[in-house]
Amino acid sequence: MTLPKPDSIAQQHSKQLLSLIYDEIDRAGGKITFAEYMHLCLYAPGLGYYSAGSQKLGRHGDFTTAPEISSLFSRTFAHHIKDVLVQLEQPSIIEFGAGSGKMAADILLELASLNLLPEKYYIIEVSADLRERQCNTISRLIPDLADKVVWLASFPANFSGVVLANEVCVAMPIHLLHFKQGGVFERYVEHNEASLQWCDDELSQAALTSHATEIQTLINDDDYITEVNLAAESWLCSIADGLQQGAIFICDYGYPKADYYHPQRSEGTLMCYFQHQGHADPLILQGLQDITSHVDFTLLAQAAIDNNLEVTGFQSQADFLLAGGIAELYDAGKRDELTMLQQATEIKQLTLPSAMGESFKVLTLSKNLEQLLSRCQLADRRYTL
Ligand SMILES: C[S@@+](CC[C@H](N)C(=O)[O-])C[C@H]1O[C@@H](n2cnc3c(N)ncnc32)[C@H](O)[C@@H]1O
Repeated sequence: MTLPKPDSIAQQHSKQLLSLIYDEIDRAGGKITFAEYMHLCLYAPGLGYYSAGSQKLGRHGDFTTAPEISSLFSRTFAHHIKDVLVQLEQPSIIEFGAGSGKMAADILLELASLNLLPEKYYIIEVSADLRERQCNTISRLIPDLADKVVWLASFPANFSGVVLANEVCVAMPIHLLHFKQGGVFERYVEHNEASLQWCDDELSQAALTSHATEIQTLINDDDYITEVNLAAESWLCSIADGLQQGAIFICDYGYPKADYYHPQRSEGTLMCYFQHQGHADPLILQGLQDITSHVDFTLLAQAAIDNNLEVTGFQSQADFLLAGGIAELYDAGKRDELTMLQQATEIKQLTLPSAMGESFKVLTLSKNLEQLLSRCQLADRRYTL
């Protein structure tokens, strides 16, 4: 496969990041974990893929997410959120990794129409560039509600309300494991004179050992490369610590553990996206391409249980949206035929199994809620976790 060639400005940008990566490798004594490498590629200040000024999301970027495909996604999400908000006093919402800010705007508009606006809509975003983009989107799309939106640096100690994360865990740096010769190694990145290269060595952290032991029981291949998302695990623990009452909705592409570590998935799920072309080489186009992996939902569910959260539902994106009333939202309201046709196409993209409907899942977690979140029971698949 031939990838499009980046222009000279982009190449210069990538060279700068590559030089920083070489320095980090030298400083670390010759190699860094893939998680450290991925973190630099995506989040190095001013240079990383999410930290620098490229378009990233949408038709003119490298990939498109559900909130960018259709407002109906976020408006439907608002109905799930409503079921939590009505149970709480003065609840707020926290969205992690809000991308362009479109999901925040559409959710607030829908909640306003339901007369159920939250106290505040907080956004926690690691990328300074995206924070600025979110701010512009909010003032452009919802000027009257803009004072509801506040950016936070970290999760508050005492929070009651709803936590949202759409395609956030898939953007977290992961550790790569290589099972071979009857043992398990971690994949590191090192460099020679000319380029970056892989290097397998012992596990960098004790936390990886128990994951590796569990994975070993599921695979039977002697040359098996896969990932462990320790960052998502500790991210969820910190949310569980601060959440007093409410729910967490995590929407990502991924699988339960048994499917994730399937014997046939022997090259893992790591993927890179550059101008809507997918490929599997993260050691090129530093800072210019997205690097992502699927989510192990069993790992998240287990971390939730270990941290006193309740696992309330696990649905395909299609079932989550149908339970949220996407079809009813489509039927309601007057609009022209062209808009209706366009929205019908968007719903297909969001819900068809061949598009996003089946590969994306929603994990719903809760704490101290009195009423059951009944929409999360439709076609619930917690038994697969
Ligand atoms: C694939 S984009 C998804 C953006 C948006 N949620 C959407 O669906 O369009 C991933 C987003 O997560 C952010 N992100 C990644 N890790 C994060 C973390 N630990 N805390 C907050 N934001 C994070 C990235 O900067 C980026 O905005």
